[in-house]
Amino acid sequence: MGDFLTMQDIQTAADAVRTHSDVQPRVGMILGSGLGPLAESVSDPQYVTYDQIPGWPVSTVEGHVGRLVLGELEDQPVIVMQGRTHYYEGYDMPRLGLPVRVMQNLGIEILIVTNAAGAVNPDFEPGDLMLLTDHLNFIGMAGNNPLRGPNLDELGPRFPDMSKVYDRDLQALARMVSDEAKLAIQQGVYVCLAGPCFETPADLRFLRTAGVDAVGMSTVPEAIIGRHGGSRVMAVSGISNKANLDGETETTHEEVLEAGKVLVPKLTTLLRGVLRKLS
Ligand code: HPA
Repeated sequence: MGDFLTMQDIQTAADAVRTHSDVQPRVGMILGSGLGPLAESVSDPQYVTYDQIPGWPVSTVEGHVGRLVLGELEDQPVIVMQGRTHYYEGYDMPRLGLPVRVMQNLGIEILIVTNAAGAVNPDFEPGDLMLLTDHLNFIGMAGNNPLRGPNLDELGPRFPDMSKVYDRDLQALARMVSDEAKLAIQQGVYVCLAGPCFETPADLRFLRTAGVDAVGMSTVPEAIIGRHGGSRVMAVSGISNKANLDGETETTHEEVLEAGKVLVPKLTTLLRGVLRKLS
């Protein structure tokens, strides 16, 4: 059997967060590679490092600080994950679902997930933001779904619907903010691959044929747990590089982190604007 989560695992981890913070979050946010500085906008921050939370998957990758920041952003109580873990780091998929389960246990209604991604759509440029309208769960189709294993019926159904993973009202709010702030945003389909290799040109041509706009190694497992547990989910990719469909250019983690510097101010404007519009 795999490393499946129990209600007790979730409760123990959530209680550990409660011993460090009295914030009752309404919104949970996950900050991807190079996007962690967004957490600096949180007021009256309280910090919980991942190693203080039993069972929490600890991030091992540069660009991920590895702590929770609880406080307020635009008058909304928030819990922000400054850094996340990925499947390629070696955790089982169900374990990667623990952070979202804990945020749900702490009371979030809304989950906002961000990531750094490669542009598969040739119209996208590094530095663009892309609002996810849907995803291709490639890694899940191949058998690695975070819901694999005994279903926790108290939290959600065995066979959850995924026709509208990304909440349409939240997408509409994001578009409204983008119009008002004159901040152009792209939209499209994100695919989650296992990583850690970047894609070959053949991988990328295949993904493009399959209708993919951006490629990365995260977000989809978190969005699935989000929906399973009844959270409203919004996700945004920060496009960090052009995918290398012709095989002429290389992709590096350094350029992904470098792009974060351009993306953080844009993402901050977008997400603060969305939080302001939440009633
Ligand atoms: N491929 C996969 N994941 C990524 C990329 C990419 O090009 N850029 C940032 N994350």
